[in-house]
Amino acid sequence: MECVNIALPKGRLGKTVYDMLASAGFECPELLEENRRLVFENAEAGVRYFWVKPSDVSVYVERGAADMGVAGSDILREYTPEVYELLDLGVGVCRMAVAAPRGFEYHPSRPLRVATKFPNIASRYYAGQGRDIDIIKLNGSVEIAPLLGLSDVIVDIVETGKTLRENGLEAFETIMPISARLIANKASFQFKNAEISLIHSALKRITGETK
Ligand code: PRP
Repeated sequence: MECVNIALPKGRLGKTVYDMLASAGFECPELLEENRRLVFENAEAGVRYFWVKPSDVSVYVERGAADMGVAGSDILREYTPEVYELLDLGVGVCRMAVAAPRGFEYHPSRPLRVATKFPNIASRYYAGQGRDIDIIKLNGSVEIAPLLGLSDVIVDIVETGKTLRENGLEAFETIMPISARLIANKASFQFKNAEISLIHSALKRITGETK
């Protein structure tokens, strides 16, 4: 069997998915040690893991540097990489929403100013409603934008709603639900099909059990 290269998103979500993989027999205990290494291999189990920035997982998988990976559906809808989406892992669940300061009222006389890390998702959403908007692309801490008058609303991820609440904002429209997906490189899916299928079915069994 050939080794399958798997890109995991650094952070809590990556660790949760690694636990799922480990319980399915694809463990690599060194991966949880507190060190700065980014590549871990268990040749016997046929897996090699990389920790990468969550928004970069689909880049590694699309270009074949990783055969498989775990990416949020927010990233997949924003960047639309050419990859196979194999499975909804049922973890990392949150939603993409439009939020604004409490009591916000829209003035239709000018385009709505929307601050977001997800310009493509936001543009598609408002285009679908036939609304003219002005997108302001930010890279984080988006909640600040309407507070400082940079934008009218934000399009961002809401998980617990704590960040919105603590900044005096509220979500008033949900654009889409979000969860982590198992993805695969299209060429790898052909030439490492047996190995990829093994991991895919193991995770399918586990997500089926936890649902
Ligand atoms: C995400 C998102 C919100 C927050 C939502 O930010 O952009 O800020 O999490 O979570 P909550 O509803 O549970 O409060 P992230 O941690 O990715 O940081 P960033 O905005 O700096 O990218």
